Amino acid sequence: MERIRVRGSGPLDGRVKISGAKNSVLKLMAATVLAEGRFTIRNVPDITDVRLMADLLRAMGSEVSYADAVLTVDTPADTVPEAPYELVEAMRASIVVLGPLIARLGRARVSMPGGDDFGQRPIDWHLDALRRLGAEFHTEHGYIEGRADRLRGARIVLEFPSVGATENALMAAVLAEGTTVIENAAKEPELADLAAFLNRMGASVLGAGSSTITIDGVPTLHPVDHQVIPDRLEAATYLTALAIAGGELVLEDARPEHMDMLMQKLGDMGLRTSAHPDGVWASAPERLRAVDINSLPYPGVATDYMPLMVAALSVADGAGIATENIFGGRFRYVDELSRMGADIRVEYHYALIRGVPRLSGAPVRAHDIRAGAAIVVAALGADGETVVSDAHHVARGYDRFVEKLTAIGADLDAD
Ligand code: EPZ
Repeated sequence: MERIRVRGSGPLDGRVKISGAKNSVLKLMAATVLAEGRFTIRNVPDITDVRLMADLLRAMGSEVSYADAVLTVDTPADTVPEAPYELVEAMRASIVVLGPLIARLGRARVSMPGGDDFGQRPIDWHLDALRRLGAEFHTEHGYIEGRADRLRGARIVLEFPSVGATENALMAAVLAEGTTVIENAAKEPELADLAAFLNRMGASVLGAGSSTITIDGVPTLHPVDHQVIPDRLEAATYLTALAIAGGELVLEDARPEHMDMLMQKLGDMGLRTSAHPDGVWASAPERLRAVDINSLPYPGVATDYMPLMVAALSVADGAGIATENIFGGRFRYVDELSRMGADIRVEYHYALIRGVPRLSGAPVRAHDIRAGAAIVVAALGADGETVVSDAHHVARGYDRFVEKLTAIGADLDAD
């Protein structure tokens, strides 16, 4: 998918099924390295990032197959502990294989991830956490080489609740000797899903989803069958699409308890939402009201919601300030919204958005997954046609995006 063409649409109506969470399944796939044998992961979205992680597992010797949202992974006894440049470069999330590889095989060689469109993306906290467990690292020719004879449980205090650093530490600690306590851990629902997966494999993890995670290491783990939690970021995308285009929707399988702060903020903007027996029900107001938003680690407003919320604020009544606290360089989509007539001024990590009654369709670019999705949802409320180029970014994280939006009344197509 290279281009998405979106025409301003009328109100959305109907039901949209929320797929499994990208940011959970990628980590569950990394965790399959921890045990030999056949894993079954259900509710897996059909997205590029899952294909890239499958390619990485294959490069390490696993057999992977995918059909009808079910992914099976056969991990061999002799996993090749290496993540090559081409794959890590294509997807930074590949770095989460580092912890599991060192834990099971005592060594790993992983290409050093580069920056991306959000700016710098360091992994120093991942390495610090693994060092606390006894791993040693050196970097050579663009690769991080890690070793440990046997990891030993330790107290790890994270400088910041980094999602990736918490996941790497957790997946290493499950096979370490003794007890590990991770303080200031990330609390995202995807972490709780990873811990549930690991516990099913025979690990002993307590407290995931809170800021203190306690892990009692075990000598070996076994493969499992697991269902991925629904994607709160995909659900947020359809909620903001509704907020902008108007109408009424049921988001099947969405979990309201995973997006409390988003629902509060959208509620302050005038969207009505409630828990529904099948997921979440939502109905849009005549015109949105402006609010201020700040991205923060979970349960705060996720950084990934920000482009979507800024798109909604672009057409809200009044002015709002969006403060990005997680990724300094994450405002590039603002230039694209401005090309569509949005009135947004960015200073440092703040954006002041003065709502306009309507945007106007224009040729724009998707810089990353959420930026691309935000432009598409903005275009639903714009006059005329918007042509989004570099739309392959959107396919990295959204399962049948164009089809799902079309089914609820949006007017768009892709090539
Ligand atoms: C995860 O990235 C998600 N990716 C991101 O979603 C999400 O935006 C992010 O968490 C924050 O919620 C996946 O789960 C695959 P972090 P991650 O470590 O783990 C700094 C999407 O669109 N930091 O919590 O890489 C870092 O630079 C993606 O689905 C260090 O300084 O995020 C950032 O400022 C994009 N050193 C902050 O911490 C480190 O060693 C939070 O990053 C690690 C992180």
